[in-house]
Amino acid sequence: MSTRTTVEIDRERIAELTEREQKRLDDRTDGSRTHFERARTSLAAGVASAYQERDPWPIYLSHGLGSRVWDVDGNEMIDFHNGFGSMVQGHAHPAIVRAVQARVELGTHFAAPTEDGTIVAEDLASRFGLPRWRFVNSGSEATMDAIRIARAATGRDTIVKIFGSYHGHHDYVMVSIGVPYDKIGDRENYASLPYGAGIPQSVADLTIAVPFNDAPAMERRIARLFEEGRPPACVIIEPAMMNLGVVLPEPGFLEAVRELTRRLGVLLIFDEVKTGLTIAAGGATERYGVKPDLVTLAKTLGGGLPSGAIGGSEEAFEVVESGAVYQVGTYNGNPLSMAAARASLQEVLTPDAYRHLDALNERLLADCQAVLDRYGFPGYPVGVGAKGCVTFSPEPIVDYESFKANQDADLSELAWLYNMNRGIFMTPGREEEWTLSVMHTFEDCDRFAAVFEEMASDLTA
Ligand SMILES: Cc1ncc(COP(=O)(O)O)c(C=O)c1O
Repeated sequence: MSTRTTVEIDRERIAELTEREQKRLDDRTDGSRTHFERARTSLAAGVASAYQERDPWPIYLSHGLGSRVWDVDGNEMIDFHNGFGSMVQGHAHPAIVRAVQARVELGTHFAAPTEDGTIVAEDLASRFGLPRWRFVNSGSEATMDAIRIARAATGRDTIVKIFGSYHGHHDYVMVSIGVPYDKIGDRENYASLPYGAGIPQSVADLTIAVPFNDAPAMERRIARLFEEGRPPACVIIEPAMMNLGVVLPEPGFLEAVRELTRRLGVLLIFDEVKTGLTIAAGGATERYGVKPDLVTLAKTLGGGLPSGAIGGSEEAFEVVESGAVYQVGTYNGNPLSMAAARASLQEVLTPDAYRHLDALNERLLADCQAVLDRYGFPGYPVGVGAKGCVTFSPEPIVDYESFKANQDADLSELAWLYNMNRGIFMTPGREEEWTLSVMHTFEDCDRFAAVFEEMASDLTA
């Protein structure tokens, strides 16, 4: 991040532009409004997942092709949302369409293994340098099973996670995520706070949160857990945090976490549901050169079909192979998902694809930096591989505390409205980031930067 003089953004101007842009979006999404009225009578809040909810109504999509999506009003948008980071292949990629069409005619589900599952496992083993794999159907299932494996392997119940990290919607990890700043507790002893209702406090209490980018704090907390007679089974961590915008690991952090977990006999789980297959062929494990005991994948793996995976060392997987842990699921290794994953890994996510994603992201990050510099706008661009964002904060965000202290929710909302009204489909909310696809072009990235420039200009005029 460069040190430079920035302008003070007028809060009233943000409010005024937000009102204007909100009205503009309402006017161009009347079909979504109509559909919402119908959907809400049978589908709770009109959507299939709370992450799709939006006030006053969600934007309903009709189809996607390449780097584009269309909403039900016929608005064409360049997709930087990409299914919360799942569609790095782009929409309806010909290789995946071919593979899925061929598979559909051969039967789509047997709950018996097929050859594609073996081929996908072999490919993942070579990308991540981890020899054993199992499949599931989502990121949540992957983290849930990985934690169970770690608990069985160590005979311990407590787990350690990073405060503010999201690892899916099961009880073990819906803890200490997006909570008000004043409830976090002391940095050396963060609170174990259920994220939403319905999560037993007794389960949340088994999950201990520590700050990101602070290996000494993690080590001190783990040492105390040993002293208290509740040593942890594992540390589960997003190697680069992608649920607070993008927060990269500082040099040496992941290496230190690897060293201390190995030394203390605690399993290390890299939750690569977002980073795996998006920031390098072998995810963060390859990009940062640190190998965990277990890795979890989902999102990009299935090329748009529901799937997830857990990879690990022979030692970690011993409890699965011995039958001690029931790692199960009717749809695990579903033939349609495996056919899509195989085509994706072998034909789409090639070394050339990662070179293209890196080049696109480099250009987009540089263009956003140029806009920030031109207008003296507070913030900085940050990203890796297919992922990135502009963080609207004068201070570098390194963990949940700095994120909360420097949050500019109003500006994030305005940026989202500017994007949506100018043909850029983006993830709502400050916690998310852009995901590029192999089908994106440099012109697509230029369009994103141009829209950002329009907002910066309107706010600083
Ligand atoms: C890092 C991480 N882990 C796990 C999950 C859960 O994945 P899913 O929504 O497929 O259950 C997510 C979802 O966003 C995630 O970002």
